[in-house]
Amino acid sequence: MAQLHYSINRRRLRVSEHVRELSAGIQLNHRAFLQPVFADASLAERAALKHMPGIYSETEESLLRGMVKDIQSGVRKFLLFPVPSEKQAVPSQFDFVTRVLQRVRAEFGQDVWVAADACLCAYTPHGHCGLLDATGTRVDNHASVDCLANYALRLAQAGADCIAPSDMMDGRVSAIRNLLNAEGYDQVSILSYSAKFSSHWYGPFRDACHSSPGKSALGNRKSYQLSPANAEDAILCALRDAEEGADMLMVKPAGWYMDILLRIREQVNLPIAAYHVSGEYAALEQAVGIGLLDRERAHLELWTALKRAGADIIISYAARNAKNWIEQQNF
Ligand code: PBG
Ligand code: ZN
Repeated sequence: MAQLHYSINRRRLRVSEHVRELSAGIQLNHRAFLQPVFADASLAERAALKHMPGIYSETEESLLRGMVKDIQSGVRKFLLFPVPSEKQAVPSQFDFVTRVLQRVRAEFGQDVWVAADACLCAYTPHGHCGLLDATGTRVDNHASVDCLANYALRLAQAGADCIAPSDMMDGRVSAIRNLLNAEGYDQVSILSYSAKFSSHWYGPFRDACHSSPGKSALGNRKSYQLSPANAEDAILCALRDAEEGADMLMVKPAGWYMDILLRIREQVNLPIAAYHVSGEYAALEQAVGIGLLDRERAHLELWTALKRAGADIIISYAARNAKNWIEQQNF
């Protein structure tokens, strides 16, 4: 049998832009991006997020105005993080976010698609993603899931297209799915933060949501978020969430966990979102700020890598630039 020499002349397919485009495996598309947005009930005017160029905590009004501009620049899909003005030990008052969702729906109808982050950490006084038991040292899974499912229902009733639970409690996907179905919201999808690591890279986000758990007796999220050292736990969580009825899965942070993304991609046939989180975005932008990186090329290369690793959906704070940058892509 004649020997094939695939490896000899590889550069022919790199000689021009044209042939590079033809042979590229990955084509980015701005339609696959989600733009995270923050709405803070206690702000009188929008406030720039520390270390996050271009990203603001919005007021109800500025959020709506911003969406008009976003729609014009090709952004129609959002991940909404509400920041309530008051903390509640057992959150049950969700009027701010439900009003925001109702207004978004009234203003834009089906022109936008909104996934509402469903978590309790911006609501609880201690900043944990669930409710603490009487000792204050343990996050009570059962009570947290009950509270969260009820919250998810309120989000669906207010017009959310998708519920994105980011709490990492066990059993929340099936609890939310069952409640939504029972109440007639079977068309509302679930994007589960299934592989969410206990990461050092969420800092700017926690500043924005006033949700840092540092001051409670239980000073970190390690009893519910995944250990960066435990890949198998992440895979099992993804498989479990898929079985419980999640429509889409997520890996987060994105950049440091592409091995996890690739492994989940190989095992689960659901859309997977990669979330380039606040600290990753901030670090990249700060490097751009000192002239170390070109902003556009740095994001495009990262996004391409996420796609290559198997992401269908990219959640990026720079999503509102995606259309423009991808069109003139020359990194
Ligand atoms: C909280 C939540 C976090 C993020 C999304 N939802 C952070 C955390 O667990 O403290 C991180 C997003 C980001 O850093 O951009 N449930
Ligand atoms: Zn949380």
